[in-house]
Amino acid sequence: MTKLQDQREKHWEAFVGRCQACRACELSESRQNVVVWRGGIRAPLVILGEGPGADEDRLGLPFVGRSGKLLDQLLTSFGFDAGDYHIANIVKCRPPGNRVPTEEEARACRPLLKEQLRLVRPTVYLLMGATAHRYFMGSSTGITQARGIWTESNNCHILPTFHPAYVLRDPSKRTFLWQDIAAVRQKLEELDLIEKLKA
Ligand code: URA
Repeated sequence: MTKLQDQREKHWEAFVGRCQACRACELSESRQNVVVWRGGIRAPLVILGEGPGADEDRLGLPFVGRSGKLLDQLLTSFGFDAGDYHIANIVKCRPPGNRVPTEEEARACRPLLKEQLRLVRPTVYLLMGATAHRYFMGSSTGITQARGIWTESNNCHILPTFHPAYVLRDPSKRTFLWQDIAAVRQKLEELDLIEKLKA
């Protein structure tokens, strides 16, 4: 391990410690685990969801339930390795009963998310679902209109898409999620941030 990698890991561990100690909102009172990330700690792609569900809360990892299985299938079929992406959520603690996080909860979690993104330094973002889109972009445009349309901001490329849970409920939306993950792959290849897939 290089000195730089070693330093990065130390910063990351300190950050995770701050997440685990966080009491910035009421979600901390009912959580089992603070759900910070899975994937690389430095990655060109950040995949952002809404917030942990019951499985994620129990295991301390994002997207490990049904939605996560679908997401993983997609990422694997598009040739992504775990080091290519970093998966996180708008809030790190489970909203009781899987409700949508409130604006106050999202706001309370934002400093940690900002710090996380500063450490991970992604170039491409995939925002999964209406909540990630609304809170990350500060946009009131519905996800059906927003999905599949790239935005550029501070040299980053941001793509909203449907949440896998929505696609599981309405399989007619599957192709949109497929198209958007393909577009993310293509963007990363164009930017030379991921190895091109061999034909
Ligand atoms: N849904 C989300 O938005 N995030 C998770 O981590 C799991 C399900």
